[in-house]
Formats: sequence, C-alpha cells, structure tokens
Amino acid sequence: MDKILILDFGSQYNQLIARRIREMNVYCELKPFDVSLDFIKEFAPVGIIFSGGPSSVNDEGAPDVDPKIFELGIPILGICYGMQLTSSRLGGKLSSGKSREYGRAYIENLAPDSPFFKGISLKTQVWMSHSDYVSEIPQGFYPIAKTDTIPFAAIGNDEKKIYAVQFHPEVNHSLEGRKMLSNFLFEVCGAKAEWKMDNYIKIATENLKNTIQDKKVVLGLSGGVDSSVTAALLARAIGKNLTAIFVDNGLLRKNEREEVEANFKDMLNLIVVDARDEFLTKLAGVTEPEKKRKIIGNTFIEVFEREANKIKDADFLAQGTIYPDVIESSVNKKGASTTIKSHHNVGGLPENMKLKLVEPLRDLFKDEVRELGLKLGLPEKLIKRHPFPGPGLAVRILGEVTGEKCDILKEADHIFIEEIRNAGLYDEISQAFVVLLPVKTVGVMGDCRTYEYVVALRAVKTDDFMTADWFEFDPKFLKKVSSRIINEVKRINRVVMDISSKPPATIEWE
Ligand code: XMP
Repeated sequence: MDKILILDFGSQYNQLIARRIREMNVYCELKPFDVSLDFIKEFAPVGIIFSGGPSSVNDEGAPDVDPKIFELGIPILGICYGMQLTSSRLGGKLSSGKSREYGRAYIENLAPDSPFFKGISLKTQVWMSHSDYVSEIPQGFYPIAKTDTIPFAAIGNDEKKIYAVQFHPEVNHSLEGRKMLSNFLFEVCGAKAEWKMDNYIKIATENLKNTIQDKKVVLGLSGGVDSSVTAALLARAIGKNLTAIFVDNGLLRKNEREEVEANFKDMLNLIVVDARDEFLTKLAGVTEPEKKRKIIGNTFIEVFEREANKIKDADFLAQGTIYPDVIESSVNKKGASTTIKSHHNVGGLPENMKLKLVEPLRDLFKDEVRELGLKLGLPEKLIKRHPFPGPGLAVRILGEVTGEKCDILKEADHIFIEEIRNAGLYDEISQAFVVLLPVKTVGVMGDCRTYEYVVALRAVKTDDFMTADWFEFDPKFLKKVSSRIINEVKRINRVVMDISSKPPATIEWE
C-alpha cells in the first residue's frame, strides 16, 4: 500500500497532518525527525512531509535531517519549520524576527499551473505561525505563493518534486489546505488512495491470524468504542479463542452491562464479573478525587488479573490502544507535564502479566476506529456513544460514593440522555452527563418540606476534549429535563446547569 512518512519536528498540528492524509485514503505514519535513512528506505514512502516545529533552523542543536534525504528521489513537502529546513539545507537563506506572522493571512497564487497549486484560487486564506521565513530560495526552485509580508509563502521544484509552504495547510483556517495536501499526494507523489477500512479489515485479520495462530487471547472489555472495536476485530480473526472480561464495578451507566452482554455474548467468550461490592467496599468513606481514582484503577487491575489468571492457556493480552495514545505517549515521554487528573481506562493493565501484547488499533485514529466498528457490524448506538471515563460514575458522584448514590445518579443521567436523544441533539453534543453534588437543599413537594440532593447537568461540545465549550440548550428543553428528573428520581429536589468551559473548568467534575 502507498504510504506517506511524516517527520515530526514538534508542531502542535502534527496529528492533524496525519488525519488529513488518512482522510484522503492514503496511509501515513508520524515518526521522530531523526529516524535513520535506512528506516526511511525500508518504510519506502511515496512521499515525505516535514512538519512544523517550535525551533529555529539556525539555533544550535536544532532538529535536522540527513541531507541525503533530499537525494532519495522521494517527493518532499516541508511545512513551516519543514520549509525553512528544506530551503536552508538546499542553499536558500532565512531571515528572522521582523516579519513575524501569527493567524490568518492571505496568499497570492503565483503558479496556478504548478502541480502543487493546481485548482487553488488566485487569492486564498491560510494559517500562519512563524517568525523565521525564507528570504532567498534555493537554486532550481520557483515561487508558488507570496503574502504582503513574505515573498515566499510557498515554493517548489517540479523536477525534484520538492515543495514547501510557510503556512499550515493542515488546519481548517487554511481554507484550501486540503486541496493542497491532496495535490501533493496525488499530483506530486502519484499516491494511490488505497487506505480504506475494508482493506484494513482484510489486512488486519490476516496479520492477527498469523500472529496469534491457535493461541488464546484475553481482552478487557469496557463497553467503550475502542475496546469494543478491538473485540469485534479480534473475534473476526480468531473467533472463540478470544475471551473478553467485562468488569461490572457498579459505577456504570443504566443498562450498560446488559448492552455489553447483548452485543458480545454470541461473538466471543464473554466473562462478566460482578465486582460491584468489591469496588463499593473499597470506596466507602473516601472523598478525595485522586484517591478515588487510584482505588478504582488498582481494584480494576486486581479483579482483571484474578479473572485472567483463571484462563489457563492464554498467551496474549489485547488492548484497545489507538494511534493518538501512541503519539501522545511518545510525546509525553519527552516533556514533563503536570498531572491534572490521573486518567485511567481498561488499557492501563498490569505490566507484570506474562502475556504478549496485541494492539490491533494502534495505527488508527478515532474516526477510523468508528468506521471500522461500523464495518464490523457493531451497532451505531455503541459506536457513536459519548466517551465515558474509566472511573465511571465515581467521578460524577462528588464526595463519598455509595450504592444508593449510584442508583440515584444512574436514573437522573438516563433521563437526561434520553431527552437529548429525543430532541435529536445526541450527535451534536460531544459529551453529556449528570453530576450528583454532595449537598442537600430544602424544597417543597405536595405541601411537605423536602431536604434532598442537587444534580448538575453537564453537556459540552469539543473536537479533542482538550478544550470544550458548554452546550447551549433551549430553556424549554431544560425545563422538561429538570421536571422529569425531579418528578421521577426519588431523593433529588433540585437541578442546576454547569455553564463552564474547559479551560478553566474540566469536563468531569472530579
Ligand atoms: P476532563 O475532565 O479531564 O476530561 O476534562 C476529558 C475527557 O476525558 C474523560 N476522562 C477519562 N477517561 N479515564 C478515561 O478513560 C479517566 O480516568 C478519565 N477522566 C476523564 C472525560 O470523560 C472527558 O471525555
């Protein structure tokens, strides 16, 4: 299959470059900028993209490439830092400082006949983020675009098939950026659009069959999209040699266990572990959010290990790791970042388990995982389900978690989600849920005083869950939800709405 290699020079937009290319049905991988020439030859990409990055090419120790990369005869596209690097390594000159640009800019298309700029408007909006820029281009190159500020916003060399842009074609603010990337892939590199989920299913199941053969595989199934699709793909490859362990920790949404059972019991060996008491006993009296998270994470591992050890001849442990996890963990290893919350999910399993790891989704982005899941026949309701945190309702029951509070919250949450579905808003909202607050307030019901719990409604819209806006409901909708929750769920007499964005708030309350 034709592949593109993206070399990572540290830009915050790198994952986006990869997603754009995959969206055009061409396979690509993001690798550190310093991979060896031998690796590149073996990977045999039909094109290479140098990403942007925060450094200055002329700084000491700035990320660099082996100059022989330009002699491999493989087409290259340099983006931002990648442009500056390409240009300066091939004999061009850089200037810095004076013409710093950040944000929207307008480029003039100087070469509408260039294979790279074919079909691009004569003037179009792009997204810039740079202080250095190319002030003299290397021999053999010609200008493709300029702005009022910089003379070379895009340059190219048709003979060598090397192109470079100062702006970021991968972000949406570059209005014709997709077309430029598509020109690079199909006009310049001659790539074939072969990366399709149907092909992937064939290739992945073949690979899984070859790797696993007639051995047994254990998988932690959470009911979320990633572990469900991992399960369905593995089941397609190895059938009943797959055993999935689903741990009911008592912190799940209403009907969740039943839905998992219905979806998977005929597809694979499903073990449902009722560990509700074990989790609730350990959580008794604990109010500190991080402590709650740790207890749930550790208890999950204990329960899972106990069950997995009962499967005597298992050789493999399957995990639903996806490509952003792979990219993020390699980035996180480099830089120290503060822990806001210790996220965990069923992927975080014991390292000491003597099982070999299989991660059949580790090359896929979330959109691709969803598409794959649908192609494998999983229900759309499951595939499009909002994300649910590993520690479950425990981080939505502020303060101490008890069985009674779980029951109250499950009902309230169910009503909110049901009304969101009825109003046709489910797919428009990225995540919605109810939070049970650790306070009681006074109310009046049928002439009597009540003293009961308050719940908060939370609904957000987000692309990446790193930042999020609160969702603006119609007041009539909120009125209906509030009156249903108060009337139908015992022990709740007040409903409030969370109208905080992330940052500074987070999506979950704990
Ligand atoms: P926050 O609250 O950090 O949440 O803004 C961002 C997204 O992550 C989800 N989340 C988790 N997911 N394990 C998970 O698998 C966790 O421990 C966890 N904590 C938060 C949250 O629901 C939101 O989608």
